[in-house]
Amino acid sequence: TIARIILNKDYVIGDVDKRIFGSFIEHLGRAVYGGIYEPNHPTANRLGFRQDVAELVRELQVPIIRYPGGNFVSGYNWEDGVGPIEKRPRRAELSWSTIETNSVGTNEFCQWAKDIGTEVMMAVNLGTRGADAARNLVEYCNLEEGTYWSDLRKSHGYSQPHNIKTWCLGNEMDGSWQIGAKTADEYGRLACETAKMMKWVDPTIELVACGSSGSGMPTFGQWEATVLEHTYEHVDYISLHTYYGNQDNDIKNYLARSLDMDDFIKSVVAICDYVKAKKHSKKKINLSFDEWNVWFHSNEEDKKIERWSIAPHRLEDVYNFEDALLVGSMLITLLKNADRVKIACLAQLVNVIAPIMTENGGSVWKQTIFYPYLHTSIYGRGTVLNSIIKSPKYDSKDFTDVPCIDAVAVISDDNNEITIFAVNKDTDNSITLDVELNGFGTFEVVEHITLENSDIKATNTKENPNNVVPNSNGNAAIEDGNVKATLGKLSWNVIKLR
Ligand code: AHR
Repeated sequence: TIARIILNKDYVIGDVDKRIFGSFIEHLGRAVYGGIYEPNHPTANRLGFRQDVAELVRELQVPIIRYPGGNFVSGYNWEDGVGPIEKRPRRAELSWSTIETNSVGTNEFCQWAKDIGTEVMMAVNLGTRGADAARNLVEYCNLEEGTYWSDLRKSHGYSQPHNIKTWCLGNEMDGSWQIGAKTADEYGRLACETAKMMKWVDPTIELVACGSSGSGMPTFGQWEATVLEHTYEHVDYISLHTYYGNQDNDIKNYLARSLDMDDFIKSVVAICDYVKAKKHSKKKINLSFDEWNVWFHSNEEDKKIERWSIAPHRLEDVYNFEDALLVGSMLITLLKNADRVKIACLAQLVNVIAPIMTENGGSVWKQTIFYPYLHTSIYGRGTVLNSIIKSPKYDSKDFTDVPCIDAVAVISDDNNEITIFAVNKDTDNSITLDVELNGFGTFEVVEHITLENSDIKATNTKENPNNVVPNSNGNAAIEDGNVKATLGKLSWNVIKLR
């Protein structure tokens, strides 16, 4: 079987905003405590952050990290997490029924992010709190000095402002599980007034309003429209969240779920533009897909967690090879929508549904999903080409006409490199890929990386961390000016041209 991709130098989707390769750290499970932060770990730095973990985050070149939640933020008093650590309160944390020690807070996290070389995307609490706490936090983080909150930051040992540019107005406010959940009108009004005040403190910030917590919510669609009617002129992005699982152990149907993600994005774009038209506005609202991943492996285990523990093993999905294929396909989907998706956060980064896993006091390793995330983050920057794909298709339980080949091509800013990312979802056959390059000049194949495994359930573990790893043994080559490559059945492929 053959699949064709037709590329043309002048046919583009849009520039990649590097923030689509963002991630997320929530005060949840062992993401912070035992993940990025473990003062007694042999690799801990002066502030208690594990440098073995930091090194892997750097390797991923994560451009932005959402913090501190998630559901957690809807009950969080940010003031608990600043100032002398020994004076910080221990709180009963209601979203995950744990004890929050507040050993890590805004300043430590911002310092960690700075050391890594990543931006912070800060979420404010619109569950139990509101506009006043939010505008104070902007003042604390972004004003240089000479006001109560900025001087307080300085007195806490942080003389320079954190200059946080991207902010989330709450989290999943439509969900009944959310601390202080709201109706669309209640949230829309609060988000509007909060947005105004935050931007009055710092007009350079950008704001993300909460969309639905998932496209399956009964209020999906109407929620986005109502929230945007209230907030349109004061916010810049609307959020999307999605998690998929293979509970039915049906790989064809599972790998097709990226089509659902694409449909979700297209629907939210349509709603944004509907409100734009209704308001006769010139402004365009873009999308922040600030939670996405596979999440289901840990569901049963998590039911056993005792209440009021500190940093329990929670949401610790152990990802297998087929999960890496879907994550790759979801990354391709984000790239294909780069004209409207400007921010996206793989949820999450360490231990909690994450590409990086740690052992308390011990080692760190890369889960299977680390690799597609790594490849797209480092090679997927530039401009997304409008990739016309002709692929064999299949039907599954919930989807029809699923293309076996999901692919996208990105050209670097200097026009010297083209990278093609492709997943072959065919469970039985390898597929020959033929890529037509129109108007690009001469390119050579420099590398064809593949991620393949004969066992779709293969995982990486502490004992066997290199069970699923990529290698550069793909056979892509230029023939008669076209790229020709064999894409093995069930494979992730990165073809680099220069
Ligand atoms: O990422 C885990 C949780 O999923 C987040 O706290 C919440 O926003 C979502 O429901």
